[in-house]
Amino acid sequence: MDFRELIELERKPFKERVKLQYSTYLKEVEKGFMIGRQGSGPVDVRMQYKDLHSDTFNDVLVFGSNSYLGLANHPYVKSKVVEAVEKYGIGTGGSPAFSGYTKQHRDLEKRLAALAGHEDAVLLPSGYMANLCWVNGLMNRNDIIIYDQNSHASVINAIKMTNVPFFTFDPERLDEFEKMLPKIRERSKPGAQIFSTVEGVRSTDGTIIDLKRYIEICRANDIVTILDDAHGVGTLGRTGKGTLEHLDLLGQVDLRMSTCSKSLGAQGAFVSGSNEYIFMLRNFSYPYLFTSGLAQPTIAAISAALDVMEREPERIERLHDNVRYMQDKLETEGFNIIRGQSGIIPIFFEKLGIVGNINRRLFERGLFANIMEYPMVPPDKERLRISVMTSHSRDEIDQAVKLIVEVAREFEAL
Ligand SMILES: Cc1ncc(COP(=O)(O)O)c(C=O)c1O
Repeated sequence: MDFRELIELERKPFKERVKLQYSTYLKEVEKGFMIGRQGSGPVDVRMQYKDLHSDTFNDVLVFGSNSYLGLANHPYVKSKVVEAVEKYGIGTGGSPAFSGYTKQHRDLEKRLAALAGHEDAVLLPSGYMANLCWVNGLMNRNDIIIYDQNSHASVINAIKMTNVPFFTFDPERLDEFEKMLPKIRERSKPGAQIFSTVEGVRSTDGTIIDLKRYIEICRANDIVTILDDAHGVGTLGRTGKGTLEHLDLLGQVDLRMSTCSKSLGAQGAFVSGSNEYIFMLRNFSYPYLFTSGLAQPTIAAISAALDVMEREPERIERLHDNVRYMQDKLETEGFNIIRGQSGIIPIFFEKLGIVGNINRRLFERGLFANIMEYPMVPPDKERLRISVMTSHSRDEIDQAVKLIVEVAREFEAL
């Protein structure tokens, strides 16, 4: 569906819209639609997956998981989860506003606040909810937010839901960002607070903007900063504390959110900041207050993953070695990639509209990767999105590159 068709679709009556969308989906499935591949077994470098077209699960080499440090299936983490289940059971039976907040939640919040270099933190059931949490808990319609035009869907959704007036900016162009601020300030209501948010290491390509300058501009203009560092924890910084540790800027943003669902191999997320800001979230943010607290096995998994990350910083080094090795190999083969700093390697193809076919063929040949397609990204920015893990061996990386080369040649895209 192209952009015009999407807009037309938006205008259709609800029932017609649903019918149309469903029939489009069925056609896409016939053509080999790849979303909804079903995995089986623990998340690791080799797994079993089946797509919507087959009845059987096939062995695949996984280069499409955010479990960068290989902690989603780590023996120590699993043993701590089992221990926690024996001791504390499973669910919390309530939201933090009522009965669903325990000593285990509090201890983990303190640990995560220290990791972020902040005074306090709140735990949320997902990164998506964490982004809803700070928007909902801090802002109102008098305020203004200026957000990274490539922000995650959760940030954009949160802003729309809260009705905060907004502007977008391109964080690669900080001069323009700085220039737009006086005009925004002039137009703002009396007493309005301006907020701004960017990603740490960027989820789309693993690059990092000039965060030092961004923070300086925001400070000079009395802007409250929030960093979405979903992909930074465990992939960056000497001890895995994320993008700000990597840049020696730990604790320099006003608020920060990070997920526990990627490098930490579990689920959930946190927002950290000063005692005052976290007080606001804990007491006024509906997405924190009114959803059940994280289940005990998840808390145990996050804590145990942090233990492993602290004890074995070499996991982070190995991840970067693997990423560099794969980047070098792909470039030597002639691929157009971005050399980012996290576990993500985007591969672009000159031939447009081909990336879905390449990914489908890779899957048939035993390689699981992801893609970013229009409308998620502009049509000329479609990409195969490779995620590297600490636990990949050199041999597995060689096999993956060989397959990508063969399939790209098959589609005359290399
Ligand atoms: C930049 C960014 N923010 C937030 C999220 C949401 O995190 P979670 O999957 O834990 O809900 C993601 C997940 O992909 C992300 O990439």
